[in-house]
Amino acid sequence: MPSPIILVHGGAWAIPDAACPAHQQGVERAAAAGWRALERGASSLDAVEEAVAVLEDDDTFDAGRGAFLNRDGRVQLDALIMDGASLKAGGVGCVERILNPVRAARVVLEKSPHIYFVAEGAERFATEHGIPLIDNSELVLQREVERWKSAAEQRYLSVPAEFSGDSHDTVGAVALDVQGNIAAATSTGGTLNKAPGRVGDSSLIGCGCYADNETAAASTTGWGEPMMKLVFAKWATDKVTADVAPAQVAPASIHYLKRRLNGQGGIILLDREGRIGLAHNTPRMAWAWRSQQSSESGLTAPQQ
Ligand code: GLY
Repeated sequence: MPSPIILVHGGAWAIPDAACPAHQQGVERAAAAGWRALERGASSLDAVEEAVAVLEDDDTFDAGRGAFLNRDGRVQLDALIMDGASLKAGGVGCVERILNPVRAARVVLEKSPHIYFVAEGAERFATEHGIPLIDNSELVLQREVERWKSAAEQRYLSVPAEFSGDSHDTVGAVALDVQGNIAAATSTGGTLNKAPGRVGDSSLIGCGCYADNETAAASTTGWGEPMMKLVFAKWATDKVTADVAPAQVAPASIHYLKRRLNGQGGIILLDREGRIGLAHNTPRMAWAWRSQQSSESGLTAPQQ
């Protein structure tokens, strides 16, 4: 019987020293929530949903409440969840009135023959399936209004300054359950001052999130456009084999991202054997994992 495990990240960027405790405690809380699900025998899908919902609820991170504002000064959220056993996935993009986009994505996975809904259609689908809609202002923090005002002079999409400055980033989780199935979920507010309607890698299947029992589960964080061009999460999971472990693939993936497109970011990986990998080329990436045997967290990837 496989030994369940959950691994989460809270974004790869230049987390300042003063923000480190909030980031580390946030990912630890998320891993604990995912672990509680796994411990009671819930599926890896349940575990990644619970973990990512905790990160969305925590305004430390660029997901859910407290996410970056777009050029219109509104929060616009994207999320994807994927089941490695069935390859079923559910995603939402550009939603503005949902507190936990990962839960809306889960409903898409469970209840729809489709994989991806955007904007009002996504919100309508969510509310038809019991997810309440909120006002966009409930997702907006004053901290982000200030950040947005100071970024308003910059050209959106020109320089990924948010990955090196005073900022925050995308969240995600990968998990293995007692049945031996893996799953992944990723959720984001995207990039600072993004163009309304812009969707990044996080919620696009194979770009910022992927799970296949035959290879691995992945969630990525960082500058989305390069990751989209490389279909980055799928590229990485396809490299995992019996002989090539996630711990080798994660740094190789980040090297590839940098070499091909000068991309910046991070990745977490997990396979059905419970082998994990994490890597980033930003100064820091918040991460935490838990299993029956132990738990660990940090702000830079351990030497693998
Ligand atoms: N990885 C987050 C984004 O680019 O939207």
